[in-house]
Amino acid sequence: MSKNYKRYTISAALPYANGPKHIGHLAGAYIPADVYVRYLRLNGKDVVFVSGSDEHGTAIPNQALKENTTSRAIIDKYHAQIRDCFEKLGMSFDIYHRTSESIHHQTSQEFFLTLYNKGLLNEEVSEQYFDTEAKVFLADRYIVGTCPRCGHTNAYGDQCEKCGSTLSPRELIDPHSTLSGKPPVLRPTKHWYLPLQQYENWLKEWILNSHKDDWKTNVYGQCKSWIDAGLQSRAMTRDLDWGIKVPLPDAEGKVLYVWFDAPIGYISATRALFKELAEGKKEFATPQRDFGKVAEGDWKKYWSDEETKLVHFIGKDNIVFHCIIFPIMLHTSGEYILPDNVPANEFMNLEGDKMSTSRGWSIEMHEYLEDFPDKPDVLRYALLTNLPETKDSEFTWKDFQAKNNNELVAIFGNFVNRALVLTQKYFDNKIPASGALTPTDEKVITDLKEFPARIAASLENYRFREATALVMDLARLGNKYLAETEPWKLAKTDLPRVGTILNLALQISANLAVLVEPFLPFTSARLKLMLNSKNFTWQECGSHTLLKEGHALSEPKLLFEKIEDETIAGQIKKLNAKKASIELASQPVDLAKPEVTFDDFSKMDIRIGKILKAERVEKSKKLLKLQVDTGIDVRTVMSGIAEYFQPEEIVGKQVTILVNLAPRKIMGVESQGMILMASDKDGSLRLLQPSAVVSPGSKVS
Ligand code: MF3
Ligand code: ZN
Repeated sequence: MSKNYKRYTISAALPYANGPKHIGHLAGAYIPADVYVRYLRLNGKDVVFVSGSDEHGTAIPNQALKENTTSRAIIDKYHAQIRDCFEKLGMSFDIYHRTSESIHHQTSQEFFLTLYNKGLLNEEVSEQYFDTEAKVFLADRYIVGTCPRCGHTNAYGDQCEKCGSTLSPRELIDPHSTLSGKPPVLRPTKHWYLPLQQYENWLKEWILNSHKDDWKTNVYGQCKSWIDAGLQSRAMTRDLDWGIKVPLPDAEGKVLYVWFDAPIGYISATRALFKELAEGKKEFATPQRDFGKVAEGDWKKYWSDEETKLVHFIGKDNIVFHCIIFPIMLHTSGEYILPDNVPANEFMNLEGDKMSTSRGWSIEMHEYLEDFPDKPDVLRYALLTNLPETKDSEFTWKDFQAKNNNELVAIFGNFVNRALVLTQKYFDNKIPASGALTPTDEKVITDLKEFPARIAASLENYRFREATALVMDLARLGNKYLAETEPWKLAKTDLPRVGTILNLALQISANLAVLVEPFLPFTSARLKLMLNSKNFTWQECGSHTLLKEGHALSEPKLLFEKIEDETIAGQIKKLNAKKASIELASQPVDLAKPEVTFDDFSKMDIRIGKILKAERVEKSKKLLKLQVDTGIDVRTVMSGIAEYFQPEEIVGKQVTILVNLAPRKIMGVESQGMILMASDKDGSLRLLQPSAVVSPGSKVS
């Protein structure tokens, strides 16, 4: 387990480029991966950190259908969005690649052919649902029908979202295609299967025996239950017109299964990285990295050499693919190393409910960044202290505020600021000399010494919450030291003692600046600037002599600022509003009314009029009394729109009015006509107006 590796290949799951990604994704895979990688780099390790967009699978054309555009447009849009958000949040990938790149298509096809040529893929013909109108085989998600388990009438071919059962399309009662609405027919189709069951013994040895003690229990447990349940052959190809072509003759219209090609994306990303490095088109994410000259072929060492440690960071829904299917592929190809660990996280819930982009119950990365553009580290910290490492966790805005105000501001920020400001005030912003040490100082120095190793031990074991808490403990140590020694009270009587205290406080700050880097990289950079300190390594930390006497500091600035209650209330309101608007949009509309003839319709005299006057009606919440210029005349109309419009805002507006409706008395006033309105699913009303101003009396037909 604690083998000494020569280099590291670290991957973070390739997110589907089919929509924005939320903070649950960050907590699941990306933030832990980034912390781990930054820590390794600070230790001088040879690391490559890869991720990128997963741009295949039915998720992409599905979204294209929803947005009424092409698959290509979808991946281009979301790839750019996700990549930019990751960058703003400090994800330090060496490469953020795309599975639509040709080098990836090539790598995946080569991989497929390796397995095929070794005779490891079984060709099988089976009956699959085919849509005779759309002339395509239907992916599971394109077939809906009645769930055989619970009777839900809108179950998908792979899953019933009502009862949660995993289904296969053939189990659905009354299946029909979502493309044409017609019942699909069964047609024979040929596919290439990977017989997972043949590797059961190998998996038992590799996972159940060899990784019993070093894999997380949630990951190990899931693998064990999959293996115990018995594995089955799984098709590595699909009938689809979006994806990587199956590189065989006789495979027209067939593409590689997205879960075949996507993890190979880690390999192609590494290949692309080294190609670009060798061509001088790119640099590693850490510029100071120096492991000699890079050649294009070096990528192989990161995937084939046993002295490379491969770690996949993922969320729990990806476990089977990264622990069973992909490893079988790597193993049987005979060319690759296996992951040393797959520290998958559970899920992060949001304010008491499951996070879900489609239900609108989520905080998307881009939404956070729009509202808190200068606070990437606050989100990193709030997530890190709350990672779903062993069980599902929960993000709340209140907790986010508390973590910021009570920890980042009150402990970390406060400590550093006091040390810096006092140094500016009493020592001309230079590191003061350290004099004789008291037992209090000695104790702090001893404690300080232990932190780098303690934090490292947590990180080596993928315990990121614990590691984060330890860094905050170091700030706490500093804060407590200043509170106990109260240097601000000693300035008048014992300046040399103040110097000693501040010297030590600044040494702790310099340690913090380094040790916090994996967690809060932006804060680390700002703190280093203020301390004017160089990039110390992890090994140099723990020392209380990092900064030399007389070393000049820069202007102190606040590292964090308080987040007010209104800001938090605003976010909670925004979240609820987003969910409500999505719920509204997904409510069914009323069914169509019975047919009418053209004659029926032409009896209506509908005109465009203009509102001349509007006033509230006493004792009525709903009614406004309007004077409308119909072009024919000016008349009074009582309209039930007072909850949606202020009288002053609708005066002068054009409206659509039914002018030959029989007059009726409403609240004692004769209403001569009816203003036509669009009423939304929640009953809210909006005016119907022509797209450009027309003269009053214009006919609507
Ligand atoms: N796109 C997948 C998801 O979002 C993850 C793919 S991970 C990789 O769940 F293995 F394919 F890279
Ligand atoms: Zn069901």
